[in-house]
Amino acid sequence: MARSVNPRLVRAAAKAREGAVAPWSKFKVGAALLTRSGQIVTGANVESASYGLTCCAERVALFKALTSGQRKFTAIAVVARAPGGPMPCGACRQLLAEYAPEARVWVADSRALQTVRSFSVRELLPAAFVNIPDDRD
Ligand code: THU
Repeated sequence: MARSVNPRLVRAAAKAREGAVAPWSKFKVGAALLTRSGQIVTGANVESASYGLTCCAERVALFKALTSGQRKFTAIAVVARAPGGPMPCGACRQLLAEYAPEARVWVADSRALQTVRSFSVRELLPAAFVNIPDDRD
C-alpha cells in the first residue's frame, strides 16, 4: 500500500479540480485515485440546482474508476481551497470504506499542495457498514 505521499497524485487532484461544476457553492474540489496498477483516475464535484443531487469529487473519481473496471486502490488525493485541505463527507467515506478500504486519503489546500494531511479510510469511518448479512428476513 502506498504510505508516503505521492506528489503526482496530489497534483492530479489539483488539476482535476479545474473541471469542477460548482455554480451553487463555488467550492471547487478535485480528486485523484491511484490504482494498484499505478493508474490515476480523476474527478471533480458536480452540483445540481436540486442541491441533494450534487456529487462530490471523490465519488465522481471512484465511480469513474469502478465503472472502467478498476477495483484496487492504494490512495486518493483530494484538493480544494480549504485550510488544511477538504475532509471527505460522510457519504464519500462510506463509499471509500466499501470500495477503497486500503487506500490512504491525502488532503491538501490548493494553495499549499506540498502540505498534505494523510488519513486511513478506517480512521475516517470506523466500524463501517460494508456488507449485508447473509442471514436476513
Ligand atoms: N465536496 C466535495 O466534492 N468533496 C468534499 O470532500 C467535500 C465537499 C463538494 C460538494 C459540493 O459540491 C461542495 O463541495 C460544497 O459542499
